[in-house]
Amino acid sequence: MILLVNGPNLNLLGEREPDVYGRTTLREIEDMVRHACAGWKVDVVAFQSNHEGEIIEAIQSARGSADGIIINPAAFTTTSVGILDAIKGVGLPAIEVHLSNIHAREDFRRRSLISPACLGQICGFGPESYLLALRAMAHHLGAAAAP
Ligand code: DQA
Repeated sequence: MILLVNGPNLNLLGEREPDVYGRTTLREIEDMVRHACAGWKVDVVAFQSNHEGEIIEAIQSARGSADGIIINPAAFTTTSVGILDAIKGVGLPAIEVHLSNIHAREDFRRRSLISPACLGQICGFGPESYLLALRAMAHHLGAAAAP
């Protein structure tokens, strides 16, 4: 099972700054990931919260049930030592995702505290960033693509 975690304000996708984040809703992104997961024969559990502690608890509860974590920490990317430590603490492979290219925006968005705990970071491809992350995770886990 792959735990898909989305952080603060991503529940507003579709209506939030569409020039930056596009018009696709979080529900649509989760459905895309679910559909793609079926192709990789892996399950996904999707979780979104605007609260740092809830995200930390979701990561902790992935211990023993998830094989990997795909996370868009959103605004917590640049601030949350707690999320960094949670990912390190559970020892699960994690991939960081962003819809926008955080390196082409304001300087403060560029430095991720989360990246050091991740296999890698994928950003800038809109909803496709999630599918690229899923593909990378499936390869990492050795999941076999559906014929
Ligand atoms: C984001 C980029 C972050 O800088 C921002 O705070 C977000 C969304 C993205 O997906 O592009 O909320 O993580």
